[in-house]
Amino acid sequence: MKQKIFTTDILIVGSGIAGLLAAIELSKEKEVMLVTKGALGTGNSNRAQGGIAAALGNKDSLALHALDTLAAGHGYNNTNTVKNVINQSPRIMEALFSSGVLFDVDEQGKYHLTKEGAHSCRRIFHAGGDATGYHIMKQLKYQVKENVQVLEHFMVYDLLMEEEECAGIRGKDADGRCCTILSSAVVLAAGGCGQLYSITSNAEESTGDGLAMAYRAGARLVDMEFMQFHPTMLYADGKGAGLLSEAIRGEGGILVDEQLQPIMEGKHELKDLAPRSVVAKTVYETWKSGRDVFLSIKHIPDFTRKFPSIAAQLHAHHIDIEKGLLPVRPGAHFMMGGIEANEYGQTDTKGLFAIGETACTGMHGANRLASNSLLEGAASALLLTERLLTQPMKARRRRTMWPVSSFAEDIPSLSELQERMDAWAGIVKEENRLLRMKEWLSSYIAFIFSPASTELSKQQLTIKNLLAAAWMVTNAALVRTESRGAHLRTDYQEEKPEWSGFSIYWEERDHDPVVKKNKEREASHEYITP
Ligand code: SIN
Repeated sequence: MKQKIFTTDILIVGSGIAGLLAAIELSKEKEVMLVTKGALGTGNSNRAQGGIAAALGNKDSLALHALDTLAAGHGYNNTNTVKNVINQSPRIMEALFSSGVLFDVDEQGKYHLTKEGAHSCRRIFHAGGDATGYHIMKQLKYQVKENVQVLEHFMVYDLLMEEEECAGIRGKDADGRCCTILSSAVVLAAGGCGQLYSITSNAEESTGDGLAMAYRAGARLVDMEFMQFHPTMLYADGKGAGLLSEAIRGEGGILVDEQLQPIMEGKHELKDLAPRSVVAKTVYETWKSGRDVFLSIKHIPDFTRKFPSIAAQLHAHHIDIEKGLLPVRPGAHFMMGGIEANEYGQTDTKGLFAIGETACTGMHGANRLASNSLLEGAASALLLTERLLTQPMKARRRRTMWPVSSFAEDIPSLSELQERMDAWAGIVKEENRLLRMKEWLSSYIAFIFSPASTELSKQQLTIKNLLAAAWMVTNAALVRTESRGAHLRTDYQEEKPEWSGFSIYWEERDHDPVVKKNKEREASHEYITP
């Protein structure tokens, strides 16, 4: 079949809040093309329940929001990024209000704000009760279609590199035809890798494609050991059945065991609204000790009105809301690590930009504060736009010959990979199990890190990318011999000062990570301990 070739000024890969907002803003001045693996906007942003954190309430301040973000991040954030992103909140909310997103209001017509874990006050804007992502994305999808050429069901499988610069991408369109897209700038907004685990809040497109491609192209990645697990995934019919928002606990929900004993009692002063890693670990350990865990909603008045989408989800799984006990397990939720980028999306590779969950800007440190991800995605889309529109673009490349790898026949299935990640590199990790995971992945190493082959199907390419993400998550987790934020080790249970300010990098296409001092992370600890 003949290869199709497109050219554009800017190519955006992914259609979450970061990708769509960047496409809308950039297309005001540039020719923009957007490709997305599923249908437009069906990824994680669309699923966001809780909302978007923005310190616009009377008793709140941008500084307080920054302090909460740094405290949740365990002194491991990039302080300047945190300040810069949070300072964008008024501008972002203004843009969302004026684009027609109807955030929920109270009886007086004022915006109703909710509270989630580790926030010191109510500052979460939400829409449709618990359908914030859906309402934001609905407006953005409408706007993007007007000005941007969109290719849906398009899987990008490798970046085109010329003399160490990114010159475009190679991918397969909806009909499986091979395509090349040449562009002056490639913006990866392709999400995280939650599909590494069997219980996940993530969309099926969250398969680490952006992370794996960037790595194979030689871009630098960092913090891949910091995978956040959400404490409360609904567990029904023997599997994860969707997220139960932290906002439920913000409204009075309590985690209990099968004897109705509150499990967060004595674990943290904030109890059920403790930082996410603390709650997720407690849910996990309670379940591992043989006791089922439930989110009790008995004391929440008007549950169905406040959480209509979740109520519908419970109904679909025949769970009786009146009984008020929702079965939960923790599930993979958000990758704090990713392609190293600043808040403007700039990476160490010329022509390559990364925003949203695909990027690691240091905003979230070792543990993301709830509802900060829509904020970061939107902020980096706006900041990237400013950068790209004010700096000269490099010329588009013309050559289209790039190497391809050979076909690999023995590719594991998704469930095989997930079962192993659950067992050996799950929420609470230890050396022996991580080593088993590493050993299993080692047999695929040549396949994982070679450029993609046009002979592979989209599903095989997806597994290739997930294996690459699994390799980075497992090895980085093995190297970090401490527990910090979302990175929990049973054999190294304490946070160690000697790890402060050190990051684990993936660079120069090396198969092993390198540990280096990270100056930008050192400052944040001083900022939160006055
Ligand atoms: C939730 O609604 O609990 C998820 C919010 C988030 O992860 O930011």
